[in-house]
Amino acid sequence: MQVTGNTILITGGGTGIGLGLAGKFIEDGNTVIICGRRQDALRKAKEKYPGLILRTCDVADVNQRTDLHRWATETYPGLNVLVNNAGIQRRFDLLNEQPWTNIHDEIAVNLEAPIHLSCLFAGHLRTVPEPAIINIGSGLAFVAMASAPVYCATKAALHSFTLSLRHQLSKTPVRVIEILPPAVNTDLGGAGIHSRGTPLEEFTTAAYERLKSGDLEFGYGFSEKSRNASRAELDETYRRMNPL
Ligand SMILES: NC(=O)c1ccc[n+]([C@@H]2O[C@H](COP(=O)([O-])OP(=O)(O)OC[C@H]3O[C@@H](n4cnc5c(N)ncnc54)[C@H](OP(=O)(O)O)[C@@H]3O)[C@@H](O)[C@H]2O)c1
Repeated sequence: MQVTGNTILITGGGTGIGLGLAGKFIEDGNTVIICGRRQDALRKAKEKYPGLILRTCDVADVNQRTDLHRWATETYPGLNVLVNNAGIQRRFDLLNEQPWTNIHDEIAVNLEAPIHLSCLFAGHLRTVPEPAIINIGSGLAFVAMASAPVYCATKAALHSFTLSLRHQLSKTPVRVIEILPPAVNTDLGGAGIHSRGTPLEEFTTAAYERLKSGDLEFGYGFSEKSRNASRAELDETYRRMNPL
């Protein structure tokens, strides 16, 4: 994709991968709006990149998603890129009863929100130059890590949705891109859980290069291998990742 002259909305852009990408886009002179639930995280992000535009929003809430779409398209009619990045990860034992609200929240943030926001913004995006929807998936879409059962299911479903979205929008100018990170060292799921992952700067630099080169689906390291793996290779990886 073209990486200059865009107006970009990044959900969950206050920290981690979203903020890493926001920084790259800001450095290339784009207008970047980030949203998230925590005002303090958004403010901290703006201290690092003063050009950022902030919006508080809980994308798990259907009304807040609708408000976000209305506000963003009215205030920034040139908005041409939506990045569905907000995500949460919960690790839990399915035999221990979970409050349904916890499980639903994970589905709402990781799957309902990108589907709903893609539907809300698609009509607007098709009318502006160089439009794109970028979904942040996961290498775990292809090989489940059983300790995070709902997370992996949402990312597998998001991958499927992204393929259909790309197909349906192929007759419009909207490009549909899926970035599939491997484990990256962010606070996803809680501080320290991903400390052995790829350093954030290394991943976002590599992902930004792939965006520039026009790739529509890409991973990095483990996730690049997984997205190209055969069923036999995925089964072998699954056994290694989930020992009995
Ligand atoms: N790190 C990894 O290993 C890894 C691997 C594969 C894929 N990913 C994906 O990368 C994306 C970014 O995650 P990350 O690793 O950068 O973790 P992160 O630093 O925890 O970022 C997640 C962001 O999402 C926001 N968010 C969460 N729930 C939200 C909600 N209901 N409404 C609005 N914003 C919300 C959070 O901000 P607030 O809490 O302030 O709302 C936070 O800024 C996610 O989709 C994740 O699944 C990460």
